[in-house]
Amino acid sequence: MGNKEALQKFKDMRSKMLAGGGEDQIAKQHERGKLTARERINLLFDEGSFIEDGTYMTGRADKFGLDKKKFLGDGVVTGCGKVDGKQVFVSSQDFTVLGGSLGEMHAERIANAQALALKNGTPFVQVNDSGGARIQEGILALGGYGKLFRNNTISSGVIPQISVILGPCAGGAVYSPAITDFIFMVDGVSNMYITGPDVIKAVTGEEISHEALGGAGAHCGISGVAHFRFPTEEACLEGVRKLLNYLPANNMEPAPVAPCTDPVDRETPELMDILPDNINQGYDMKEFIYSIFDADSFLEVQADFAKNVVVGFAKLNGRTVGVFANNPKFFAASLDINSSDKGARFIRFCDAFNIPIVSLVDVPGFLPGVEQEHGGIIRHGAKILYAIAEATVPKVALIVRKSYGGAFIAMSAKQLGYDRTLAFPTSQIAVMGAQGAANIIFRKEINAASDPAAKRAEKIAEFEAEVMNPFVAAGYGYVDDVIDPKYARIELIRSVEMHITKREDRPAKKHGNIPL
Ligand code: HXC
Repeated sequence: MGNKEALQKFKDMRSKMLAGGGEDQIAKQHERGKLTARERINLLFDEGSFIEDGTYMTGRADKFGLDKKKFLGDGVVTGCGKVDGKQVFVSSQDFTVLGGSLGEMHAERIANAQALALKNGTPFVQVNDSGGARIQEGILALGGYGKLFRNNTISSGVIPQISVILGPCAGGAVYSPAITDFIFMVDGVSNMYITGPDVIKAVTGEEISHEALGGAGAHCGISGVAHFRFPTEEACLEGVRKLLNYLPANNMEPAPVAPCTDPVDRETPELMDILPDNINQGYDMKEFIYSIFDADSFLEVQADFAKNVVVGFAKLNGRTVGVFANNPKFFAASLDINSSDKGARFIRFCDAFNIPIVSLVDVPGFLPGVEQEHGGIIRHGAKILYAIAEATVPKVALIVRKSYGGAFIAMSAKQLGYDRTLAFPTSQIAVMGAQGAANIIFRKEINAASDPAAKRAEKIAEFEAEVMNPFVAAGYGYVDDVIDPKYARIELIRSVEMHITKREDRPAKKHGNIPL
């Protein structure tokens, strides 16, 4: 073959490769309301920055008609590109090729991208849009998944891993995203389930739609499997770019610091207006978050799940911090099974990636109830204690109102490992609230009184004044400083920055055994 013919052959191959499953399949993909694998990559990365690898890898299985269905690239696009100038590796499954199903070479391409991300210490984003294991390839497909799960696990805590579900993700395939740090989903596009509606109907008789079973609403709001929910693919991929901006490239890099336009000496007198006078009245802790952290910097994670705890990334004087806050707007901010899981996992992500943790505390305790006890609140609640004690990043707590009992320890105790704990003059710190305490330790005295109600009120006031006020805790050094709420932002910036060079060692071990 002459040079001209070779070049022409190359051009033909290249355009075939770029067309994935072909024009008809691309049109079908668009009819489904979905973008193609390459369109998604273009949205994810800075313009023109994508470099593909494994471009011509092709499946070698020949059975059940696969000999006539050879596709260059084997149904997935992999490589790296830049997000706001920073390198990120990617895999993007191509549903137009054999339904994005995962065969041997398809898996090999993804595994290569994972390995390169790990080797180069840069984040890995996987876009899933697949019918699962390529049925014709059988065991080769299963082996491929095994490799991906293993790579996901080995990369965990070393580089950030993000899964973007933009189509079906069913069966064992769901476990690769589940091992990664964050899952993004789009309404009406994404589905995740172990078995779909048909199997469920056959096994249990339950009838449910794909969307209700495994859509973005189900996993962001009910199961807690996913972290971010978007109305469109475009908004979703923009969301991935935004999240990446808060994260270091790997576990050896410090949390990113960007220029900050919000003054570091900005006072926050509005906090006292947000806080109700009645200690039992709810309010939205997010108002506190918006007020304290750099303007418009809060990126909430799992916003629709276990709302009694709020977690997310924010900036303090331009530096990424992890916010771990109670929210008295829901369940009086008590810690339950789901909020414990949500908080602990977020804390561990922050610790793995050198992101300081700021907790905003207003918590009456762990949620009582048979359902919680039998659901394992002991095991789940322990995760928060474990995660905080294990974390070596700077940890700063601000007790906004209540901090009682075991939840005081989880959210704010220096003995557990918080580096600096602050409180407001109105904060209440105790083993339990004054009402509950009066019922136990003053019961005999109250019952014996000529006016039990008056005695009860007197004892509650006495307990509040002598035991619960923050100066008692400050007197023991349990609270480092009692601050004026109008200086909350200033004090939190100073508190994080004073610990930013912190070094803390732990005994060498293979790994701990967090209660799962
Ligand atoms: C091979 C597949 C495939 C698969 C889809 N296709 N899934 N080919 N292996 N797993 C092909 C279809 O044959 C079809 O080819 C093309 O992809 C598009 O699929 P459609 O069915 O036309 O698309 P749609 O109607 O949108 O339905 C999408 C779907 C459905 C819901 C994903 O295709 C489906 O249910 N697929 C099977 C899903 C499944 O059971 N996978 C195995 C899961 S178990 P043509 O040539 O007709 O266009 C698993 C185990 C993993 O993955 C274990 C890991 C440990």
